[in-house]
Amino acid sequence: MLLTGIDFSSNHLTGKIPKEIELLFGLVLLNLSRNSLNGEIISNTGNLQSLEFLDLSRNHLSGKIPSSLSKIDRLAMLDLSNNDLDGKIPIGTQLESFDPVTYEGNPNLYGEPLNKKCQEETTEDQRPVAQVSDDNSIFLEALYMSMGIGFFTGFCGFIVSVLFISSYREPYSKFLNSLVIRIYLIKNSLYMARG
Ligand SMILES: *[C@@H]1O[C@H](CO)[C@@H](O)[C@H](O)[C@H]1NC(C)=O
Repeated sequence: MLLTGIDFSSNHLTGKIPKEIELLFGLVLLNLSRNSLNGEIISNTGNLQSLEFLDLSRNHLSGKIPSSLSKIDRLAMLDLSNNDLDGKIPIGTQLESFDPVTYEGNPNLYGEPLNKKCQEETTEDQRPVAQVSDDNSIFLEALYMSMGIGFFTGFCGFIVSVLFISSYREPYSKFLNSLVIRIYLIKNSLYMARG
């Protein structure tokens, strides 16, 4: 509770922001800008309810902006610029009301107050889906086509052999005759059984 300010800016700090920072409830100023910090902004940063100045600019922080940041009512100055943050700036929060410079220099960040819209996200989402359905329809097309060709070839082979190979013609007509007779007999016996 007694520690109210940390300014480690303009150093060569690397690695992630230590998670334990979320326990420094008295922190009013946190300045870690101009270092080489990576990893994500810890999701519980919103627990730092006394925080008024948060400067994480010019690092290599990645991932999304935790929406818990919007729970800090006193936050007057926020700088997340020049990192590798991505995703949408949490909507419906005070995070949207900061100046755009707060977020600039994060190529994959979008939403208010930046002018970039969500378009990138939707086109990225649609592309793989479209590809899947494309693959599917090509597969189905090939399947139907091969079924058609297979049926046509088999049918032609059958007709040709019955029509033109005389040794097949006679047994086939005999077979048809006996089939018709058998069906006729079965039908009759069914009638008899029913009375
Ligand atoms: C953090 O430190 C940088 C450079 O040391 C300075 O330019 C910046 O204004 C500081 N941010 C805050 C919120 O004090």
